[in-house]
Amino acid sequence: MSNVSQSNRVLSGMRPTGQLHLGNYHGALRNWVDLQYQYPCFFFVADWHALTTGYEDTSKLPEYTHEMVIDWLAAGLNPGVATLFVQSHVPEHAELHLLLSMITPLSWLERVPTYKDQQAELAEKDLATYGFLGYPLLQSADILLYRPGYVPVGEDQVAHVEITREVARRFNHLFGREANFESKAEKAVAELGGRNSSLYRQLRKKFQETGDAESLEKARALVTGNTRITVADRERLLGYLEGSSVAILPEPQVLLTPTPKLPGLDGRKMSKSYGNTIGLREEPDSVAKKLKTMQTDPARVRRSDAGDPDKCPVWSLHQVYSDQSTRDWAAAGCRSAGIGCLECKKPLIDRVVDEATTLRKRAEEYENNPELVRAILTEGCEKARDAARETLDEVRRAMHLRGD
Ligand code: TRP
Ligand code: SF4
Repeated sequence: MSNVSQSNRVLSGMRPTGQLHLGNYHGALRNWVDLQYQYPCFFFVADWHALTTGYEDTSKLPEYTHEMVIDWLAAGLNPGVATLFVQSHVPEHAELHLLLSMITPLSWLERVPTYKDQQAELAEKDLATYGFLGYPLLQSADILLYRPGYVPVGEDQVAHVEITREVARRFNHLFGREANFESKAEKAVAELGGRNSSLYRQLRKKFQETGDAESLEKARALVTGNTRITVADRERLLGYLEGSSVAILPEPQVLLTPTPKLPGLDGRKMSKSYGNTIGLREEPDSVAKKLKTMQTDPARVRRSDAGDPDKCPVWSLHQVYSDQSTRDWAAAGCRSAGIGCLECKKPLIDRVVDEATTLRKRAEEYENNPELVRAILTEGCEKARDAARETLDEVRRAMHLRGD
């Protein structure tokens, strides 16, 4: 049987960088908001990850975490639907990281592309630490701890999910499959309840005896459609259908986030470290001021010069924010010098201000009530720990550590 996870759980994390900007929003957060209604989702603040590239000044971590979670909530992440938590509040991440570190060859970590790239890019920082080298493995632990089917990330993180899969494969190879699989699977069948249990048994029997693909499909649908059983039981039931067993750490798949090109004010990628951002909850005056001075097609010096939208970062923002007719108007007006850049930016300013205003309003409730944010995270943390403990129990048992 393949080790690829059959779970529909989604897991992803974000480093706490304080208030988010439009690039973060359109790159990841908006996608999370959509996903939460399609899959059971776990989203966490990767605060330990922040330490891997900056351990000297940790004083801002609480504020950055708090502000980012407010952005999550303002953007529409719904704690009634998705599980929101902070990595360092779930110490199980550290234990799994430690155990996985025992079986991970150094060469795997050294060849992760971000290792050398970031050392070159962030030359002013001390990245010659153990923590920095190990950070993709910490990420592997973050992921495998929840046994998700999918990990939504941008292009830059794909290599980290890839190493996660390699580590899972190695773990499963070394420590085998779940102990007492049969009896656990039988228990899980009973959990399905009455009619569903017997239907599952019938379908499984038919598939195993005749190889009938339709029975397999039906049984799978029966299992994945059941929301009362645990993720671990779902994995077992799916594995049991094909007869054999289930991997202790199933391999998750990347869910590549489509990331629109979102330039910052200077035309480079929008990034906090470039200081070229517009905040998700920025005040109208400030949004207007920033956009008015935003870089345009450098060849368009005078109002009477025709411009080329493809050479203009403002145009990329139109792709994200404007409807077709506004875009047609802007492109034609630019090419014919029929409109000036300020005119072109006007509808964009309106849209961004609208969006920021909506988010600011939604954030107010949380800003005025930090306790509410803390309560949401505490509840999320409890749910996350339940899931994490289930995995770690099996991992420990497989490794003959505290086997009971
Ligand atoms: N490394 C990711 C980043 O820098 C954040 C992250 C940490 C993450 N753990 C994760 C993302 C687990 C997905 C899954 O953006
Ligand atoms: Fe850019 Fe619009 Fe000015 Fe053209 S008119 S250069 S698209 S801002």
